[in-house]
Amino acid sequence: MVKINDTAPNFVAHTSQGLVDFYSYIDNSWAILFSHPKAFTPVCTTELGTLQKLLPAFKDRNVKVIGLSVDSLDNHNVWLNDIKETQGYLPEYPLITDTDKSISKLYDMIHENASDTMTVRTVFIIGPDKKIKLKMDYPASAGRNFNEILRVVDSLQLTANYKVSTPANWVQGEDVIIGSAINDEEAKKLFPKGWTTHKPYLRTLKDPTQGDNA
Ligand code: BEZ
Repeated sequence: MVKINDTAPNFVAHTSQGLVDFYSYIDNSWAILFSHPKAFTPVCTTELGTLQKLLPAFKDRNVKVIGLSVDSLDNHNVWLNDIKETQGYLPEYPLITDTDKSISKLYDMIHENASDTMTVRTVFIIGPDKKIKLKMDYPASAGRNFNEILRVVDSLQLTANYKVSTPANWVQGEDVIIGSAINDEEAKKLFPKGWTTHKPYLRTLKDPTQGDNA
């Protein structure tokens, strides 16, 4: 099983955009690797269109997107046109055709008690260091919220650069938390403009990426 902070395994795959070596595709970017259960199904159709609509926001954050299902390349290619027709967006990101399920198994995307013939809806966020930063699984019946995935990319990219954490429902620009591993002495050096102490273990400050707040 691939878990948070593990190195994402590399693979080479046939996709709707030709043969892809995963590491070469990621290059030095962040990446989203997601699986969907099946072509020509309603929830997946809305998900793939929605993701294409949000692709500029992922590009702004230097995130490459790549999808996967166990369907054939021919199926994907016909279905992509249906997505354009019904959702108004033609997915430009590569869609992996994993008919032998080798990548699905490598990334634990097939949950046999749900289905042994198709993947669940898995999302991996992978950092430029090729480490898994987040993993989540949704069942076939629930379409994902890709705005939430963008939100957590913002959190991961912030906390990669600053010694802070983000509170529940945080969005860019809102106050952040000083990590509990940082004592007040160190915090004074990192955040000379100060912070608010609500409890000794709960200290907040302005989002350090917004203006001159650090
Ligand atoms: C759907 O995307 O709607 C779907 C996927 C797999 C099974 C059933 C429905």
